[in-house]
This record gives sequence, C-alpha cells and structure tokens, in this order.
Amino acid sequence: MKKFLALALAVVMVLAIAACGSKPAAPAAPAAPAAPAASAAPAASEAPAAPEKKSVGVCIYKFDDAFMTTYRNALQEILEGKGYEVTVVDGNNDQAKQNEQINTFITQGVDALIINPVMTSAAATIIDTVKSAGIPTVLINREPTAEEMAVYENLVYVGANAADSGTYQGELILDTETKGDINGDGVVSYIMIQGDPENIDAQLRTEYSVKALVDAGMKVEQLNLTRGDWDREKGQTICANDLAQFGDKIEVVFCNNDDMAIGALQSIQAAGRTVNKDIYLVGVDALDAALNEVKAGNMTGTVLNDAVGQATQAVVSMEDLLGGKTFAEGEQSIYVPYVKVTPENVDEFM
Ligand code: BGC
Repeated sequence: MKKFLALALAVVMVLAIAACGSKPAAPAAPAAPAAPAASAAPAASEAPAAPEKKSVGVCIYKFDDAFMTTYRNALQEILEGKGYEVTVVDGNNDQAKQNEQINTFITQGVDALIINPVMTSAAATIIDTVKSAGIPTVLINREPTAEEMAVYENLVYVGANAADSGTYQGELILDTETKGDINGDGVVSYIMIQGDPENIDAQLRTEYSVKALVDAGMKVEQLNLTRGDWDREKGQTICANDLAQFGDKIEVVFCNNDDMAIGALQSIQAAGRTVNKDIYLVGVDALDAALNEVKAGNMTGTVLNDAVGQATQAVVSMEDLLGGKTFAEGEQSIYVPYVKVTPENVDEFM
C-alpha cells in the first residue's frame, strides 16, 4: 500500500511538472509563494542589505581660520545630516601635509572628496591625484584656473566671484557721505591690509576695491599695502603701524577679510579715531563679530561671503558628481553670490 501511494504521488508530481512547461516550479513545495510573473525579484539570500553609508573626506587648508571654521562646521553638519560618513582634516597651512591627507583618503577608498587647497598653485597636482584615483571631487575656497580643472570632468569648484567682493567694498566707500575723501583734498588715501597674496581672493579684492573708486572717477593714493594673511592679530599690528606712520592721512582702511578688519578696528580705536567720522573701514565675510560692529557703526560695512550657502552648494555639487554628472571646461566654477552689508540691511544677516 505504501509503495502504491509513493508511486501515485510520483506520477502526480511528474504530471504537475509537465503541466508547468519548462518552469522548474516546485508544486511539491506548495508552501513556497509563487513568484510574481515577469518579476526579477532577487532570491531571499540576495535581499538588499541596508545601504552602506557613503564616505566623504574633507580637507581644510587650516582650522585656525575664522571664515573656514564657519564653513567647515556647516559642511560637516550638512553632510552628516544627509547620512554621510564624514572625516574633516586640518592641513595646518602646509601643502605637503595636505597632499598626504588626500593620499590617505584615497587609500581608505572614500567615495568623494571636498578640498580647500592650501595653495592655489597646488591645484594642478591635486587635480591630477584625484583624477588618477577616479574620485569625484569638489574644490572649495581657492579657485584654480578653468584650464587646470578641465583635465578632470568629475570635478568642480564651488566658491564666489572674488572680483565682486572687491567691487562691493569699493561701493561701500562710494556710498559714504564723502565717497572716501574725508579731508576733501580730492584724493582718497587708503591702506590695504591684504590676505595671503598667493590666494586669488586676496589678489582680486585688492584690485577691484580700488578699481571701483577709480571707475567712479575718484583719485586714489595707496599709502601702504601689507600682507596680513587673513589673520586678526596681523591686521591689528599692521593697522597700528600704519596709523603711527601716516596718522590722519589715512581715510580708508581696506581689509581683504573681516578677521583682519576686526583687528584693525582695535588699533583704530586705540589711536582715538572714529570709524565713519574720521576714517572708514571695510572687510569681507560677514563674520558675526563684523556684523555686530557694522550694526554698532564701528565698521563702514562688510560683504557677505556666504559660508553656509557655499557649503550647501558644495554638497549639492558633490552629489551631482557622485550621480555621474560631468562638467565641461568653462562650466566647472559654481559661484554663490556675495552681498553688500551695511547698517541698513545688517539685521537680515544676524
Ligand atoms: C575669506 C577669508 C579666508 C580665506 C581662506 C577667503 O575667501 O574671505 O576670510 O581667510 O578665504 O582661504
């Protein structure tokens, strides 16, 4: 009887398999759910695992920079908020050190890089390195030339058009009652406290701030130009020295950034001068400290260098690159606009 049942079962199975055509379906295992028609669903063993976190390496030229501190904090927050695994490293203003950090990130196999080069002149080497490794890369804050970037289509620069920030500084002076000529001698006498002169932002701000005055028909005289390397203490020392040397002749203090302007302000006040009355002072960045001074009337104005906007755009561009988007020569610089900040609109930025 048992034998007969086994045989009958076998016959049923053969018939059932035949009825299914070539499909090796398993009617003998009716508990298995039928695969939906035309479905390419993976077998249970291939079920998708939780997606792995993508990793991003961020190289900052140096942590001890007021503007880049706001910028890197924003970057980290945005990236982590989007679920990336983020490592941010300090280049200590040393290009050799940063090159090593980039190589380490490459060896670790990061999915993308965001790099604030220490030196503009190192951009070509950095681009070669990330290109060889095939890593999508966003350069920030120090703009390479279009030709340098063109060699790697999976790379963009996110920053701001530095010439505009210089022009806006000049316009802030032109918007004052005396257009910068406080003593009425027909000449705007100024000192220029420059950032790191190797940095394109420093070069263009220095040039375009004065150009705006000249283009508006003002005569200008540069009493001194000194590099302050973006640094508050250097700004203070330089301004103190210039005030000691040129005294009341100085009508305008142009600073390539706010941190140096805050330093300069300390020396201006120590010398008994009053901003917007007997001297003008402008910076760039719209650091919180500068916004407070603009509001209080201790700085003539500043220019918003939008750290959060640039960090946001850097992440958007990084995701474009990760998605396989490529960029042609001439389309690799993405700018976030600068904005003039005066006592009239300062509240919008605070
Ligand atoms: C900022 C400076 C900063 C520099 C660093 C400039 O765009 O205005 O404050 O020190 O970038 O490279």
